[in-house]
Amino acid sequence: MKETVELNDTKFEILPILSKRYSPRVFSEIPIAEPELRSLFEAGRWAASSYNRQPWRIVWGIKGSKTYDRIFDCLSEFNQSWAINAPVLLLNAYKTTTEDGKENFHALHDLGLFMGNVTAQAQHMGIALHQMAGVDYKKAKQEFKFPDEYHIATAVAAGYYGGNVNDLPEDLRDEENPENRTRMMQREFTFNGDYMNEPGLSSSNQETITTDN
Ligand SMILES: Cc1cc2nc3c(=O)[nH]c(=O)nc-3n(C[C@H](O)[C@H](O)[C@H](O)COP(=O)(O)O)c2cc1C
Repeated sequence: MKETVELNDTKFEILPILSKRYSPRVFSEIPIAEPELRSLFEAGRWAASSYNRQPWRIVWGIKGSKTYDRIFDCLSEFNQSWAINAPVLLLNAYKTTTEDGKENFHALHDLGLFMGNVTAQAQHMGIALHQMAGVDYKKAKQEFKFPDEYHIATAVAAGYYGGNVNDLPEDLRDEENPENRTRMMQREFTFNGDYMNEPGLSSSNQETITTDN
């Protein structure tokens, strides 16, 4: 566990697959083949979802394929500048409606749970994921022929951890250092009572354990 604490400055003990995860912009040249991808999607398949609606839909492409190029063409210019290194690209979509055509308010939440499972499985396999909001969702929806009630939420670049940071544009290299990652303190987002009930918010770098009972 010592190793875990050092890497991501975790304040309480958590699983190494969580503390060691980060979103790189460089990847090893080791390819990812379909069976590995199937393991990732299988992990997502068993995620919880509201009413078990499983609203997630994933488009996947392996580098060198036409689908990969079509996903790549939907990415923002910034994301294209580094995602070109990724052996796999995904598009994450979700069905916005319920069986009776009403809005499924929890669909995006459920896609997030799906990707959480995929991320944990990937980390266990040594595969890094980098989620991307920078995707032309209208273009992607049209390109991959999604019906009206679907929305494209994000794209993902995936590959084994590795690769050469110097392949990146200079301004992005610093962000590859996991030590530069920061997080809010728990007391900024967890409340054992009313919203923002904790005194001294942001005034100290210490986490304390306090309960109201
Ligand atoms: C929904 C979502 C959208 C994101 N969009 C982008 C993006 O378009 N481009 C990018 O370079 N990083 C993107 N990121 C990566 C975040 O910047 C990154 O997860 C965050 O800084 C925390 O770093 P970490 O994942 O290494 O812990 C996105 C992450 C998420 C979850």
